[in-house]
Amino acid sequence: MNKPLYLVFDIYGTLFDVTKLSKDCEEVFPGFGSEFSTIWREKQLHYAFVSELTGTYVTFSSLTRQALQHTAFAHELPLAREDEEKLMADYLNLPPFPEVESVLQELKGSFSICLLSNGGEDMLTPLLANANFDKYFDHVWSIDTVRHYKPSPLAYRLIRDRIGQDADVLFLSSNCWDIIGAGRFGFKTAWINRNGLPFESTGYQPDYVLLDLRDLFSLLEH
Ligand code: LAC
Repeated sequence: MNKPLYLVFDIYGTLFDVTKLSKDCEEVFPGFGSEFSTIWREKQLHYAFVSELTGTYVTFSSLTRQALQHTAFAHELPLAREDEEKLMADYLNLPPFPEVESVLQELKGSFSICLLSNGGEDMLTPLLANANFDKYFDHVWSIDTVRHYKPSPLAYRLIRDRIGQDADVLFLSSNCWDIIGAGRFGFKTAWINRNGLPFESTGYQPDYVLLDLRDLFSLLEH
């Protein structure tokens, strides 16, 4: 393929490992950490989709908090105020996947490195700063500026509005729903499949499947 000029990454689950929240959740809810963090993430995404479909925009940090509160409530697990604050703060300190920094370092300068996230600036700025990753990105876009959540086409349109109709884009995400949204919008897509799972059966298939971000180099060479 021709070298795409714009590499647009998703952030949660793609560059940063949200499953690591299971450890933080385990401290608060011993014995339930892994299950709790999985349900919290599912609820967070569910609430974002409901927000989009009902045309009632709720910021990502608010709905992340609502999802946290609901997960505790629905499982009859008492959530102390300080634990709630601690878990919300953990979202700003997620660990990146191991290969991410070296890959970004190597890509920097040769490509325009961008982010499009459902997270708001209030979540993205500290997360990138805490990992010392802000220096790698040419553009950090939050859907908060258009108040439409991915996978709505109105969210991906933000990219075209910023860089124009003709620029080459490769959209990269570990989230199938995000890849489907970006692909249906018209971008070339690369699905990062670190867990060796089958892609969701919706009729859309990603253009490329990568085991992790290091596979990007051989893809970009062709
Ligand atoms: C993102 C999520 C929701 O947009 O994965 O970063």
